[in-house]
Amino acid sequence: MHTTYYKINHVNKEMNRIVQAGQMIRDGGLVAFPTETVYGLGANGLDESSVQKIFMAKGRPSDNPLILHIAHLEDVNPLVKMLPEKALQLAERFWPGPLTLIFKRSELVPETVSGGLSTVAIRMPDHPVALALIEASGVPLAAPSANRSGRPSPTTAQHVLQDLEGRIDYVLDGGPTGLGLESTVLDLTVDVPTILRPGAISREDLLDILNDVAVDEPSSQQKPKAPGMKYTHYAPQAPVFIMDETGEAFRSKLNALVDDFHDKGQKVGVLVTHEDAHRLNGDVIKVIGSKYHLASVAANLFKMLREFDETSVDIILAQAVPEEGWGIAIMNRLIKAAGGKKL
Ligand code: TXA
Ligand code: MG
Repeated sequence: MHTTYYKINHVNKEMNRIVQAGQMIRDGGLVAFPTETVYGLGANGLDESSVQKIFMAKGRPSDNPLILHIAHLEDVNPLVKMLPEKALQLAERFWPGPLTLIFKRSELVPETVSGGLSTVAIRMPDHPVALALIEASGVPLAAPSANRSGRPSPTTAQHVLQDLEGRIDYVLDGGPTGLGLESTVLDLTVDVPTILRPGAISREDLLDILNDVAVDEPSSQQKPKAPGMKYTHYAPQAPVFIMDETGEAFRSKLNALVDDFHDKGQKVGVLVTHEDAHRLNGDVIKVIGSKYHLASVAANLFKMLREFDETSVDIILAQAVPEEGWGIAIMNRLIKAAGGKKL
């Protein structure tokens, strides 16, 4: 399959290309597009066989449900059994934006979208290209992140091509995504609304509207509520190990570890915050951003994990960031990329 690449600098000037991509969606094709979080891989979310192509292209397990992307608030109604008042308030406050809401699904939502669950995830992305594509398609877009299953999510159109060129019909390039980590997923079908995946919209943000918000901490015994959270994720080729230290403790421990790996003939990649990036040994050192400006760390994380694949490092040592604000979502992804491994 040939993958058509279009750079979209201005939605209005390039509307003919977006209309073409929308037609491809209606014809059952796959179109990758930018959102404010990461690139998505879209298909007609109301058509079973179109949605199945997403799972094929990504190599995604079929029990991992997809998010439906809409462009107008009223588009929620036909997709859900009921729209709770609190959901409406959340949508009015945070949409378009990086918040995915889980509802009881209506009959209109194909089984494949919800991975066999009785619920459906919906969000309105905050990106002009995404919104224009949804409008041009005239249907909700089922869209996971546009990476091969298990790989870091794509934050540029080039990342999408690395993973999916020849497997999808179109890539719309809207430049690098702003936030860099996927949306917050909030389950509204339980007594206490529950965050299943942390993202840019924090628990504190949600508490402006909700009386209580729980955070799902999937343990190894329990079945995770967001099926996607149980799979290996975001992983570069070299194994990642997290280090919790900062300052001098970090430096001396890291340099000793690097010496040990060098003795074994192994090359070491280091992912470190700006504050601790000096006087470090290591073969490839990447500065991920400042721990005082975690938005920069979020925006760089997936890109830098991918960049290590272009080096010959055998192992990646990644420094943790404080688990507050954005740091909660960043550490959630980093821990998955490391498969929980620490040094
Ligand atoms: O920012 C985002 O959310 C991006 C952009 C493209 O919109 N999309 C994204 O989709 O991250 P995906 O498929 O990579 O992740 C969706 C997550 C998975 O962990 C999935 O298991 C969970 O949401 N999810 C989807 N539908 C669900 C449902 N009905 N119940 C529970 N979890 C659900
Ligand atoms: Mg994903």
